Amino acid sequence: MDIAIVTGSMGLVGTESVHFLTASGLKVIGVDNNMRREFLGDDASNESNRKVLEEECPGYVHHFKDIGSGPDMERIFSEYNQDIKLVVHAAAQPSHEWANQNPVKDFTTNANGTLNILEMTRKFCINAVFIHLSTNKVYGDLVNTLPLVEHETRWELESAHPFYERGIDESMSIDHSTHSLFGASKAAADLLAQEYGRSFGLKTVCFRGGCLAGPLHSGVKLHGFLSYLMACAMKKKKYTVIGFKGKQVRDNLHSKDLVDAFYAYYKKPKPGKVYNIGGGRFSNCSLLEAINLCEEISGNKIDWSYEKENRVGDHMWWISDCSRFQKDYPKWKYRYDIKNILEEIHKGLRQRL
Ligand SMILES: NC(=O)c1ccc[n+]([C@@H]2O[C@H](COP(=O)([O-])OP(=O)(O)OC[C@H]3O[C@@H](n4cnc5c(N)ncnc54)[C@H](O)[C@@H]3O)[C@@H](O)[C@H]2O)c1
Repeated sequence: MDIAIVTGSMGLVGTESVHFLTASGLKVIGVDNNMRREFLGDDASNESNRKVLEEECPGYVHHFKDIGSGPDMERIFSEYNQDIKLVVHAAAQPSHEWANQNPVKDFTTNANGTLNILEMTRKFCINAVFIHLSTNKVYGDLVNTLPLVEHETRWELESAHPFYERGIDESMSIDHSTHSLFGASKAAADLLAQEYGRSFGLKTVCFRGGCLAGPLHSGVKLHGFLSYLMACAMKKKKYTVIGFKGKQVRDNLHSKDLVDAFYAYYKKPKPGKVYNIGGGRFSNCSLLEAINLCEEISGNKIDWSYEKENRVGDHMWWISDCSRFQKDYPKWKYRYDIKNILEEIHKGLRQRL
């Protein structure tokens, strides 16, 4: 039976991947030690996702192990060997702010951890497709040099700019900018995944995500902004808007749409590719617009305050141009726009809370 290894299998992207891949007939082996709880606190714990996977996904096997452990990863990869046809690498330390508290642990998880999983793939299943979860933060704050215009609820790109219609494409340099330590560890991982494709012929791909979201996210202050914002609305908890007058724009992609993209790539891999992936012009919002939508959907007012100082390396305006991916995989289509995503998050949180 074909095997898929999913790292970070208790997280938003990992859990969605496990659901999809088991339903598609693969046997899935998950690796996740719930580091998210250690990084971001009890509310960020993904334990409930693991329980659901074990109950609902036939044949799913979970390993509560660290991706950085050579011996543990070697045991798992050597057990399945050439039967491993797909590796989805979604384990990571995901937060800008947390990385500043512990840069060594951040780098060890994001860069060294990725190196370890790449090396295991090279050693035991070199023909497997390797999907690496990268991020638009690899571009650093170079993005903030784009000419923006202030609108009532959002920053918007000047309409004459080539990125206006479809968003930012992969031609943006990842050099000459402030990344934040998180952006730096993720950029190292992104380059490693590309190099393993180039140097060793692995079928690697980097998906540079915009804002990824869905009801499976355990959103907290430091990561998972849409689900945290909706939780604040539902629990009547205070929310702090940080920087850029709350007009910073994010594009938002449902984890289900993301996993559809993974599967399309898995079925017809194009080794060494790098794709921006996000909600694009189809699904995006500013923070102020997200607040309005959460209030509308939850029926509650959000009690929010404002801190002027923005986060290091944070983007004022990000919309992904996904046309490189769409050109290679024309059957891939968006199913969820920003309103649908927030409605799904609301539904999921109602069940959880
Ligand atoms: N969520 C987003 O908005 C977003 C945007 C762009 C890129 N990404 C990338 O997508 C990937 C998945 O993100 P997510 O939102 O699902 O994050 P998540 O925090 O929900 O999931 C990551 C999982 O990895 C696990 N993990 C962390 N370190 C580990 C380790 N050393 N060993 C084993 N497991 C470990 C965590 O416990 C967690 O369950 C990450 O690489 C992230 O950088 C996410």
